Amino acid sequence: MAKEIHEQPEVIGHTLANYLDFSAGTARARDLPFDWKTLRRVVITACGTAYYAGLTAKYWFERFARLPVDIDVASEFRYREMPMEPGGLALFVSQSGETADTLASLRYCRAQGQHIGAVVNVPTSTIARESDVVFPTLAGPEIGVASTKAFTCQLSTLCALAIMAGRARGFLSAEDEAKLVAALGEAPRMMAAALRTEPQIEKLAKNLSKASDVLYLGRGTSYPLALEGALKLKEISYIHAEGYAAGELKHGPIALIDENMPVVVIAPYDRIFEKTVSNMQEVAARGGRIILISDQKGHEEAGITPHEAIILPEMPSTITPLVYSVPVQLLAYHTALHIGTDVDQPRNLAKSVTVE
Ligand code: G6P
Repeated sequence: MAKEIHEQPEVIGHTLANYLDFSAGTARARDLPFDWKTLRRVVITACGTAYYAGLTAKYWFERFARLPVDIDVASEFRYREMPMEPGGLALFVSQSGETADTLASLRYCRAQGQHIGAVVNVPTSTIARESDVVFPTLAGPEIGVASTKAFTCQLSTLCALAIMAGRARGFLSAEDEAKLVAALGEAPRMMAAALRTEPQIEKLAKNLSKASDVLYLGRGTSYPLALEGALKLKEISYIHAEGYAAGELKHGPIALIDENMPVVVIAPYDRIFEKTVSNMQEVAARGGRIILISDQKGHEEAGITPHEAIILPEMPSTITPLVYSVPVQLLAYHTALHIGTDVDQPRNLAKSVTVE
């Protein structure tokens, strides 16, 4: 898992180079069997970590391309009998390309006359073979059961697709496209910088390893990352963790907050930062132990002194889900190491779930 976390700057670079032309400032994919312009919506289906990559993509497709996205976990989608207008686009996100529920959802969408696109890491997989178009993630083989580099490569691919869609549909100008492409181009370097927080994370994980419950909060594209952070922690450390949209705090989880509750707040300084700050203050007022992951500006503007501060460089907001994944993964990894669990092969979990 450590190796796969550390490979991310490199494999993200490869994946991005497959979809982006950095000198032209454009995003591209060849031989698409559908036209972004005529799509009315996109349906995304996946399981586990891949589902959280899809959930992040919903924010990008809707923002860059004004293209509504329906997203569901495959185990629900496959039996939901969703009505679908023929000619729509259904995207399936999967590291292995063999997840039974994701494959069943793909076959449902095929029967409903959808164009089938697969964001997969294993190009010879069943999901890849049964798709009209494959958008490969170039993470290389992922061995750790808990997905890390495949996740950030899925994010990279999906972000490039959303930019392509935005440009093709006329919601992004050539200049907007070039800016977004340049922003993504920064991701490998920023991820390398994020990896340098490891010694600090290793230390603070010692305390976290004593917790019985951990809450993760985020807004916007940091919300799916909060869900992913909680998933990562429970998968490998067996500590109960929940991810929540920061704004939902007062609708339930705030009742859990006391001085024993670590709360990981994922909050880059962006246009909704202030909103997250007010949630953080609610946690601080109740004695919650805040671990704030933000940039320098965010830490200055937070108005509270967190229990622990993880400081990342300032960066374009488009790439924060990729870069902030790194400390989130390292936090789960080092917490599990302190506890002494097998991070590469956690109990009861399989790398690929090929049966229902
Ligand atoms: C299993 C793995 C997860 C993965 C999920 C979906 O639960 O342990 O790491 O996110 O399956 O797998 P897929 O291969 O479809 O991405």
